[in-house]
Amino acid sequence: MSRQIAALEHLKVYFYDQGDRRFIRAVEDVGLTVEQKQVVGLVGESGCGKTITALSMMGLIDGEPGVVGGRFFFRPKEEDRRALIFAIMRGNRKKYDCRKGELFDLFCGLDDCVRFDADPFTVIKDPEKWLRKNGRIMEQMRGRNISMVFQNTREALNPFVTVGSQLVRAVQCLENDKNRAALAARAEELLLSVRIFNPGYVMNMYPDALSIGMSQRVLIAIALASRPGLLIADEPTTGLDTTNKHRIIDLLGENMERGNMSLVIISHNIGIVRTIADRIYVMYAGLIVEHGNKKEIVTGRKNARHPYTEALVSSVPTDADIKRGKKLKVIEGVVPDNKMETEGCPFLPRCRYAKGGIRRKCRTRRPELFEVTSGHRIRCWLFAG
Ligand SMILES: Nc1ncnc2c1ncn2[C@@H]1O[C@H](COP(=O)(O)OP(=O)(O)O)[C@@H](O)[C@H]1O
Ligand code: SF4
Ligand SMILES: [Mg+2]
Repeated sequence: MSRQIAALEHLKVYFYDQGDRRFIRAVEDVGLTVEQKQVVGLVGESGCGKTITALSMMGLIDGEPGVVGGRFFFRPKEEDRRALIFAIMRGNRKKYDCRKGELFDLFCGLDDCVRFDADPFTVIKDPEKWLRKNGRIMEQMRGRNISMVFQNTREALNPFVTVGSQLVRAVQCLENDKNRAALAARAEELLLSVRIFNPGYVMNMYPDALSIGMSQRVLIAIALASRPGLLIADEPTTGLDTTNKHRIIDLLGENMERGNMSLVIISHNIGIVRTIADRIYVMYAGLIVEHGNKKEIVTGRKNARHPYTEALVSSVPTDADIKRGKKLKVIEGVVPDNKMETEGCPFLPRCRYAKGGIRRKCRTRRPELFEVTSGHRIRCWLFAG
């Protein structure tokens, strides 16, 4: 039977715009579950909150107030369980309700650090208190349990340090053997696992000398060095040509099988996600608007999918289009401003289906995620029971 490794619930992440004196609602309500050895895809247009969701799961949000709501249940590796429980208890002496079966809430204590005021709308967070609680917990989890391949390949590698030294440093965090030769051998093995077939040569290179595709492979190798239970790959194929895109996807899949790992793959392109993901979460304006298995999301009937999912799927060029050099089609309309609170459905200004009696509801009330079939949910009034 498959077991959950991660369950993110109702994530909310805000920033404050000093100039406009308004909160930016980067993520409003995101939930996703990942099972062991499963590939989950997170897809949506640029700016919808995918990277912020991933960084929240890594405990790496830079900006205030940052994570202001939600829970993030995670199953640590057996050998890291005690240390995690200790870290959670140190930060939350009085309460210890941070457990759901074998999974532990990595956001434990968040409610103690955040206060919402209604009029005027304000969120007050104690950043130091949060850092003390979440920082300790995430130190235990980052790397060995949850690892991430960052979106911006160039910035993620240190330009002044050779590929070999950066890899050896990553390997050192896990291996008990501190012998230099053994560490270098493991680093070379990692490069081979991402299909870099001249590892000795590449180890001595500086990142500037690598192509985008090679940098991406090195970053994946670094993320794999700690043998994480969950790997989050944020736009891992950006900037690559079609052949290299497929190679990166293939090698992520291979390593996942080999390493007994779960994978969350993030992309603005549903065409990429659908080649590898078992389950897909579709995001729009900081919200999950649909989730289901790949078949339901990608090839489901038009009237059994969210109008936004339908637009995303039809934005993917066909094989013939690709041969003619066509890229993703742009979806008509403008993405909503995340400084404004939307009462109704945020997709309304771009939606072709909000007609007749339903339109008033679309304008005034935000739909919840309605269950269409078991495991398939859609945030749209057209699917209300
Ligand atoms: N540090 C920050 N301060 C203010 N706004 C931010 C910050 N980081 C991200 N945002 C905003 O949050 C929203 C979601 O960003 P992001 O998660 O990077 O989108 P995606 O990865 O889906 O393209 C965007 O509107 C972005 O401008
Ligand atoms: S709730 Fe209304 S506006 Fe939103 S996607 Fe459904 S039909 Fe369109
Ligand atoms: Mg992003």
